[in-house]
Amino acid sequence: MPAGQDWRMPTFGRSMREHWLLDPDVVYLNHGTVGAPPKRVLRKQQELRDEMERQPSQFVLRELNAEQPMPWRAESRLREAAGRVAPFLGARPDDLVFVPNVTTGLNAVLRSVPLGPGDEVVIADLAYGAVTIAARLVAGERGATLRIVDMPYPIRESGEIVDAFVSALTPRTKLVVADHITAQTALVLPIAAIAAACRERGVPILVDGAHAPGSIAVDIPAIGADWYSANLHKWAHAPRSCGILWAKPEHQATLRHPVISWGSGHGFHAEFEHQATCDPTSYLAAPEGIALLREWDFDAVRAYMHALAREAAGVLTGRWGTTVGVPDDMIGAMVTVPLPEAAGKTTEDATRLRLALLVEDRIEVQLHAWRGRLWTRVSAQVYNDRADIERLAKAVERRTLVASP
Ligand SMILES: Cc1ncc(COP(=O)(O)O)c(C=O)c1O
Repeated sequence: MPAGQDWRMPTFGRSMREHWLLDPDVVYLNHGTVGAPPKRVLRKQQELRDEMERQPSQFVLRELNAEQPMPWRAESRLREAAGRVAPFLGARPDDLVFVPNVTTGLNAVLRSVPLGPGDEVVIADLAYGAVTIAARLVAGERGATLRIVDMPYPIRESGEIVDAFVSALTPRTKLVVADHITAQTALVLPIAAIAAACRERGVPILVDGAHAPGSIAVDIPAIGADWYSANLHKWAHAPRSCGILWAKPEHQATLRHPVISWGSGHGFHAEFEHQATCDPTSYLAAPEGIALLREWDFDAVRAYMHALAREAAGVLTGRWGTTVGVPDDMIGAMVTVPLPEAAGKTTEDATRLRLALLVEDRIEVQLHAWRGRLWTRVSAQVYNDRADIERLAKAVERRTLVASP
């Protein structure tokens, strides 16, 4: 333990694996893709499931739903859980509801924003594929157009990203959809500056915060966006599937859940909470994941993950002879690094290499083709350490540099 470290605090790195069910034989550098809930959170979820199954109809019909208050509860269980999650995001509990995943939250907003013929929706070329599909479909249904903005790369400073968004705004722009942290490229975008630029021009902005809660500090109202949706099941250690949708008070009355059900048109909370039958335990166990982050000291957790992501960039580019063209303030708990050119350049090359790494080298890492070459996105969680990065560096080296003439 380093001198001066509090003995009650865990030492991050390999020993933290004891908190997860992850296969000890696999180097897991892919936390960002679907998250990995810690054992303690899963135990909490099981306790909730056990409680639910003792009195299923009481639990599902009466305890969850704020529209049918029970004499034994001051507020519904969903409101109670929202009340414990919201402060972690700087938000008021009233402004936030649970959704199964960020895709649902973003769909709700896309389907609720008034769009008509000739209007434009602006989104970056780095946006998550399924989100771009949803935006294109909704825009098309209303006779509006989806305008895709090319993001610069390499990036010298984050202001270049703001400029790229601003250059795409026109008097016809009715909505901007922007990532807080991009998916494959893992860039922490200057989201407050993007939101400010939109506000100045009177354009509403929807933020995709899929990777943000738990990987960087998030204060949703301070961003100044109109809507913010995120996953808690990626980095905030909630069980799958758990996300949130936050809306400015003036937008709440017009927000519609993509699935029409009992609460439809009955206000923001009922719209999202008086829904069809589902398992609510991922939402109710979400506060346990946040409690864990706080116990481990969230500042220390973030500092460790960020330092390891930077170290990964240094080690991998050094070994592979490549460079990362991103300023430090755009790196969070993940970093995307170009592979040696000999690794290939197509999606087929990426799929082949990713599978070989997983099956033969026992390394799970995100790997994709982008702008004419292959890239790997490394997630740096508290259970990872430099040895994991070295394993990846050597495995890729062996498969590409050695194989090349
Ligand atoms: C930026 C971004 N948006 C949206 C999603 C979709 O997340 P989900 O499938 O949990 O809705 C992802 C998934 O990785 C993502 O990276």
